[in-house]
Amino acid sequence: MAGKTTGIVALCATILLLQAQSVCAVTFAIPSKTGAAGYTYAPLDPAPVGISFEFFTFPSYMTNVTATHQCLANWKNLSGTWPPIRIGGTTQDRASFGAASEAYVTYSVANPADAPMSLTFGKRFMTLAGGYNGSVVVGLNRGKDNIENTIAAAKVAVTEIPNLLAIELGNEPEYYPKDGQPIARGTWNPAVDAASQISWITRLGSAVGRPNIIQAGNWNQAPPEWGAAQMMARETPQARQYIRHYAHHNYPGGSVQKLQSHAQTVSNVRGLFDADVAAVRRSGREYVLGETNSVSGGGAANVSPTFGAALWTMDYVLQATSRNISRTYFHHGTIGNCQYCFWGRYSMGAPYYGATAAVALLGGGARHLAALDNGNSAFAGYVTFDSEGRPLRVLLYNSEYWTGSGSGARRVEGFTLTGLPGGLERVRAKRLTSPGGAMDRVDRGGEITFGGQKFQDGTCVLQGEDRVEVVSVVEARVTLEVKATEALLVYLQ
Ligand SMILES: *[C@@H]1O[C@H](CO)[C@@H](O)[C@H](O)[C@H]1NC(C)=O
Ligand SMILES: *[C@@H]1O[C@H](CO)[C@@H](O)[C@H](O)[C@H]1NC(C)=O
Ligand SMILES: *[C@@H]1O[C@H](CO)[C@@H](O)[C@H](O)[C@H]1NC(C)=O
Ligand SMILES: *[C@@H]1O[C@H](CO)[C@@H](O)[C@H](O)[C@H]1NC(C)=O
Repeated sequence: MAGKTTGIVALCATILLLQAQSVCAVTFAIPSKTGAAGYTYAPLDPAPVGISFEFFTFPSYMTNVTATHQCLANWKNLSGTWPPIRIGGTTQDRASFGAASEAYVTYSVANPADAPMSLTFGKRFMTLAGGYNGSVVVGLNRGKDNIENTIAAAKVAVTEIPNLLAIELGNEPEYYPKDGQPIARGTWNPAVDAASQISWITRLGSAVGRPNIIQAGNWNQAPPEWGAAQMMARETPQARQYIRHYAHHNYPGGSVQKLQSHAQTVSNVRGLFDADVAAVRRSGREYVLGETNSVSGGGAANVSPTFGAALWTMDYVLQATSRNISRTYFHHGTIGNCQYCFWGRYSMGAPYYGATAAVALLGGGARHLAALDNGNSAFAGYVTFDSEGRPLRVLLYNSEYWTGSGSGARRVEGFTLTGLPGGLERVRAKRLTSPGGAMDRVDRGGEITFGGQKFQDGTCVLQGEDRVEVVSVVEARVTLEVKATEALLVYLQ
């Protein structure tokens, strides 16, 4: 059997060499129901794809960037749930609460592309967050070592934000010594930080009087050194009652080709997080990627705004979700100086399209997700299941790198789905594609579409007719073609 399989693979490779357009099938057996043998199943949060807003700029995104509301509303329409948001980042540890402040936020910068070194926010900041219909995580300051000010801010957050999910106490605290943060005077390492977090959690938790209110962790450096497991080992019962869940940050970086590689994404997510996630889940709590995106520091100009990065966004959040990471919050920084942002004042970012394809797979009644491939090749498959355990939708991804006709013919892969539900006569599908491939950008005329549709620059309003492909099912199987640097969402119901 093994010999025969190898033979087919070899034959396939030969055909591909002879004829660049030839179809060489990948086969995925669709489990008949949630829990069927051979796969691991992740229970799904109602909205696993979230948005993180850099603290100082959150009011501007909400009140002064037209696309923000519509981009979030599109996902509510698609999935049935408003996407979760998180407000935080480096500037949360530069922020002070001003009880007398009438403004959302007050700061000054020499250049609009800069983030402020210090800022003040008023009660209105929290009232604005409270107007959002989805769940909200708010990041507060620990670096300045002024716990009274942070408790005062937390009390306002609790009263003003009806959908408050959790509060963070500090952002990426491993960098506090480098940032000159007062709390990190003297020795600062994972053990000292964990003790500091636990002490703050206990004091702040009892001051606001609400259990399960803290999102702990929030490191960027890799686990296990800066991970949840080491902090959990130090938790006291007093602190434990307030810790709702743990979060970690992640910015994989690298070239577009490396970023969009499915095998690379699998190795990044599983290698960094599997053990830490398992430790937290064993304690009965969630694990989230509290702040993440393609490349740190606002993104890389030649990487983050591309269609390849859009495909990474899709694959990455699906891979993370399939490994029991409950929610993934994609960071949005300084308006006008943000390469990885999904939208801005003037243009859509390609990654919004990838994230939207993931939302379309995960939303709308999906309860479980399973990865269909072993993560070793360029070809990926994910399947969701409904509340009755029946397969609902499949997402197929061909991560082979292609950058336009100058880079050779665009190869096509045939994905065969077998074991489809009895009685299913045809499947419908929506394609996530761009004619120029991986380096296409919306702001440079790239024609990126999902199901033939686009989102209008500046407003994020869905444009154009829905283009749905229909393919017949024969003997419970169907073969679907996906080009290099492309993905296809397949509806099984
Ligand atoms: C809104 O954005 C514009 C363009 O950057 C800026 O000039 C203006 O000051 C902003 N207004 C507020 C209230 O933030
Ligand atoms: C909302 O979703 C429906 C399908 O569920 C779609 O037909 C419609 O165009 C969407 N509307 C907007 C504004 O996105
Ligand atoms: C919240 O939801 C209500 C009802 O669906 C809607 O009218 C309102 O515009 C939403 N608010 C925001 C800020 O999105
Ligand atoms: C995710 O959690 C589910 C249910 O708790 C479990 O069955 C599954 O094995 C977990 N997945 C991984 C990759 O550990």
